[in-house]
Amino acid sequence: MSLNEEDARRRDEADPGHRDLFHVPPAEGGRYPDVAYMAGNSLGLQPRATRSELLEDLDAWAQLGVEGHLDAKRPWLPYHELLTAPAARLVGALPQETVIMNSLTVNLHLLMVSFYRPRPGRDRLVIEDSAFPSDSYAVRSQARFHGLDPDSAVVRLDTDEITSYLESEGESVALVLLGGVNYLTGELLDIPGITALGHSQGAIVGWDLAHAAGNVPLSLHEWDVDFAAWCSYKYLNSGPGALAGAFVHERHLKDESLPRFEGWWSTDPATRFKMAPVATPLPKADAWQVSNPPIFSMGPVRTSLEIFDRIGMPALRERSIRLTGYLESLLDGLDVVTPKNRGCQLSVRIAGGANELSRRLRFDHGVIADAREPDIMRLAPVPLYSSYHDCWRAAQALKDCV
Ligand SMILES: Cc1ncc(COP(=O)(O)O)c(C=O)c1O
Repeated sequence: MSLNEEDARRRDEADPGHRDLFHVPPAEGGRYPDVAYMAGNSLGLQPRATRSELLEDLDAWAQLGVEGHLDAKRPWLPYHELLTAPAARLVGALPQETVIMNSLTVNLHLLMVSFYRPRPGRDRLVIEDSAFPSDSYAVRSQARFHGLDPDSAVVRLDTDEITSYLESEGESVALVLLGGVNYLTGELLDIPGITALGHSQGAIVGWDLAHAAGNVPLSLHEWDVDFAAWCSYKYLNSGPGALAGAFVHERHLKDESLPRFEGWWSTDPATRFKMAPVATPLPKADAWQVSNPPIFSMGPVRTSLEIFDRIGMPALRERSIRLTGYLESLLDGLDVVTPKNRGCQLSVRIAGGANELSRRLRFDHGVIADAREPDIMRLAPVPLYSSYHDCWRAAQALKDCV
């Protein structure tokens, strides 16, 4: 295979993706006008459509004040419902199983209130050893909330130990909470297989899909996942700190024995303004909402989900496999730690540490990639907007610096 710049350009002509829908940041000097952006697994790029949508929502507030709740073009009271169906399509869920709300770790906590219910003999909470630190902090604080010692209740496992642990110790496990795609290595776990195994041992199985939503196809309903949460600022391109998603399987929606933290947005919207003292939630994921949602954060999620609806995950996944395979071939000779079961991210181990390297990539080569302590450089060619030429630039720069 010929792996030169011209070849990368030719591939872009044949397989162009949807870069024109996005703002690609300009490079600070150098050979190319734009950066080679390989950090969509950290913060996705801004869709060109986002600004005008956001301005429309701001204008509605200026023009209507409080009346915007009912009279805005996209009325604020039911605004979140506009996001439900496209979010459900993205993760393979039923609309009633899906809600966009809060941020990711907040959603994980709200869901664990319902789904981590330790009891004597079954109190363990399994996460992967390389879980994102926020998940680790969250589960440890949940263990403490239940009066347990997090050092014994929380079990950290390498991803290749999960199956054998569940087979031998599954009866002591209350909850398995794993990253669908690992943030560090980019490994895609066997979500349906682990979910089924956890269930066969009587455990609840939930998923942090921060690195999976918009990256790999998901079928949460069919896979019988108990609950899941994901953010929208990575592959979903909805902006820094964007609203997150939550999924609760239909099986649980009518279970009135489930504990849940509630607020006025948990109750049936038809009676919300009766101002009754007792909430009457509908059997929907919406019942896990607590507060009224931030309207200006919803437009960017809506714009992004429209793009996913229009293009479709199957087509994106196909291009993703082509792009990531191409990047992998360019990284030949480097220590790529990502296995073949993966999304678009490739992680490269850098002897001597990755932080300084990411600065050199940016300032000397116009390549934005992100380093994770101590020695991992993550490169994510995002099928919506990354080009083969970006991959070529990133690989050249990396080899040059290493
Ligand atoms: C896998 C994973 N989980 C949790 C988080 C924390 O997300 P938030 O700060 O939005 O709660 C992140 C952030 O990057 C993440 O990658």
